[in-house]
Amino acid sequence: MELQTSASYRQVAQNDSGSISLSEIISALSFATDLTEGAVRGHALRSCLLGMRIADEAGVGGEQKNSLYYALLLKDIGNQEMIGLRCDRGASIVSKLGMGEMAADAVRSIEEHWDGTGFPKRQRGQRIPLLARVCAVAQHLDVFSVGRNTDVAIETLEQWSGTWFDPHLVRAALALNLRGELWSCCRSDDSHELTRAAVLELDPQQRKRLDERQIDLICEAFADIVDSKSHFTYRHSIGVAEVAHGMAQKLGLPPERVKLVRRAALLHDIGKLSVANSILDKRTPLSKEEWKIVERHPGLSRQILEMIEPFREMAIIAGEHHEKLDGTGYPNRLMAADLSLESRIVAVADVYSALSEDRPYRPGMDNRQILPIMRSLTPDKLDVDCVDALAALMGNSATLLFEPVNTHAGSVTQVA
Ligand SMILES: [Fe+2]
Ligand SMILES: [Fe+2]
Repeated sequence: MELQTSASYRQVAQNDSGSISLSEIISALSFATDLTEGAVRGHALRSCLLGMRIADEAGVGGEQKNSLYYALLLKDIGNQEMIGLRCDRGASIVSKLGMGEMAADAVRSIEEHWDGTGFPKRQRGQRIPLLARVCAVAQHLDVFSVGRNTDVAIETLEQWSGTWFDPHLVRAALALNLRGELWSCCRSDDSHELTRAAVLELDPQQRKRLDERQIDLICEAFADIVDSKSHFTYRHSIGVAEVAHGMAQKLGLPPERVKLVRRAALLHDIGKLSVANSILDKRTPLSKEEWKIVERHPGLSRQILEMIEPFREMAIIAGEHHEKLDGTGYPNRLMAADLSLESRIVAVADVYSALSEDRPYRPGMDNRQILPIMRSLTPDKLDVDCVDALAALMGNSATLLFEPVNTHAGSVTQVA
């Protein structure tokens, strides 16, 4: 099948104005958290199904269900950090996303054990927030069913009832398992589409539509997650979005297209969550194998965003941010005719942002150093009009268009 590019997408002029629900966005973006090191694809979605069923069986109250649903989908969101930090970071992102304190608490306490031997507070029994206890059981079941099988998952759950896990919740899981109702649509060989459809069915808010501001906030929160992966890209996605937004306005794009460009820029590197920090922060040149892994990240960004129907065009633009007009970019070696103006804007903003950030062999550059380099990449690799728009944004100022957090430590992010 021919690859759809941003240029061909524009030609068919599909309608992108479809409305969107929180569950639709979060269930797709949960895939991004599953891309991080050591995680299993689809884990968040399967955990969500398992946890919601167990909660139902255990009689967890109606108003707690909404918090539980998002806690289960987002529980691994702070994953790149050490354990105590990880839970705290995850919790702060969950509350930033507007999921409420109950969901944040659940994420914060997910590593606590029923017998008081867990992290970070060694809470015991019912002192551990109920939703955290549900998350812990669901997480265990999925990890063991994928790593071993559902029988082992159930056996070990039973074994650790009263030590790691809340016995009441274990009984609920066992009852569901006996009735054959626990694993439907969340076995390790079920397709992600099937699992995701079942998750969307369970949305306690019945897929309430988001307003535009809420969508922006979610895109910003996920940009933040990507940026936090490495110290060296601490403001990268946010910076690319700011610059791309300014360029799109300078180029006279209508407000709807400016919004599209900004969101695509915010999430362009979401697939980078799959690239290990040992590669992202490497001091020495990358090996061939490591480059192969790096070159997969734009395609993964596209795959994740494409799961959200109204984000389809945004997904294509995000997937093209490392393409160059002369076909020397990656991952698809596309040519100028394939790349829409919106896509070129994001690509230019990405290069600008990368040049402004520190590398071990050079400090981050200011506008006066960056512009000649970017000009030298036109017209072969970067779009002239876009670089002109960037220059217009800079005016005569050497000061960067956004403030990257630069550090002169001894490691590096080689990948923009
Ligand atoms: Fe990138
Ligand atoms: Fe980037």
